[in-house]
This record gives sequence, structure tokens and C-alpha cells, in this order.
Amino acid sequence: MLDIYEQLIQGLLDKGFGSVDNWLTHEELVGLRKSLLTHQENDHFHAAGIGNKDNLLVLKKIRNDQIYWLNRTKANHWEQLFLEKIDAYVDYLNRTCFTGIQSCEFQYAIYDKGSYYKKHVDRFKNDDKRQFTIVFYLSEAWKQGDGGELRLYTEDTFTEIQPIPGRMVFFRSDIEHEVMMANAQRLSLSGWMKSM
Ligand code: OGA
Ligand code: MN
Repeated sequence: MLDIYEQLIQGLLDKGFGSVDNWLTHEELVGLRKSLLTHQENDHFHAAGIGNKDNLLVLKKIRNDQIYWLNRTKANHWEQLFLEKIDAYVDYLNRTCFTGIQSCEFQYAIYDKGSYYKKHVDRFKNDDKRQFTIVFYLSEAWKQGDGGELRLYTEDTFTEIQPIPGRMVFFRSDIEHEVMMANAQRLSLSGWMKSM
């Protein structure tokens, strides 16, 4: 994993984000996809970012995916394994980069055909704890035309990351980014590393 960690950190230092395709083993990818689909069957998902009925319409214009927050105490085998690997990476970051990460939170997301998440930053104005964002793509397949690319805005330009199954992206939570409209169902597991 050390090579992977270093690749991600170098990317972050050079351009604000890093991406690798080998963080998850194929087994882990399949296990997490199955876990997501089981949560969906059990009706665990709900519309993302909806506070109350009044702002429902406005929020739908910004983001219309479905999410489910991963619960550490109820995590199944694959989720447990996933969280342990994340914890090891957090330890590495804190030891080698003095990042001061205190906790992590993860959510599964389902973007059905036609879903998107407009340009935003993950660090809230009234709460700046979110330092780094991590996203894992869990779809069965992705091909050109399926959409749902992650567009990261850095300096005067942007980079698009294709949500290929097994791909992982790591970026600073204050970078502007956007999820382009999905033309096919798009599954992911995304999370935030938080400081105090
Ligand atoms: C988010 C987000 C990016 C992605 O959940 O805040 O920006 O590629 N996700 O899913
Ligand atoms: Mn985001």
C-alpha cells in the first residue's frame, strides 16, 4: 500500500488531487458493490442533502443522487475491511504529513440515469473540518458516454476523472468539483477525512 499512499500524496501536492485504480482488490470491489446493493434493497438510501420540504426543490437542482451513511458499528465484513484500510492510510498521513486527521465519515451514493451534483466544495462555510475527500467508484462497468465524470477545477482549468469501477480519487475538500450528469447508473462510496 505504501506505493499507493505515496502516489496519492504526490498528486495532492502537485495538483490538489491524486487517483489510483488499485486501492481495492477485485474481491473488495465486488464485496462493496454487493453491500451497496443490499443497502438499497433494504431501503436504506434517501435523497441526498434534503433538510426539509421547503428547500427540496432548490436542492434537487444542485444534487439529485441517493445516499446512505456507512455505520461503523453495523459495518459488514467488506465495510469493516474497507474502514480498516482507510484507518491505516489516515495513520500514514498523520505520521508523514502531519495532517491531524481525527475522524472519517463515509457514504454510499447512487446516481441514477439523469443524476448529477453541480459545482461545489465539500468544506462547509460554517464548518471547516473536512480536509480531504475520497471517492471510490463501485459501478459494474463504465464506458465512454455513460457520463458521471468527476470534474475537478484546479487553477484555471479542470480535469475530468472517469468513474471507472475500482478507481479511487483523493482530493483537498476545498477544491471546486462537480459530478457530470450520469447517463447510466453510477455507484460510489465517498468519504471525508476531518480535523478537529
Ligand atoms: C460528493 C462528491 C464526487 C463523485 O459526494 O460530495 O462530490 O465523484 N462526489 O462522486
Ligand atoms: Mn463533493
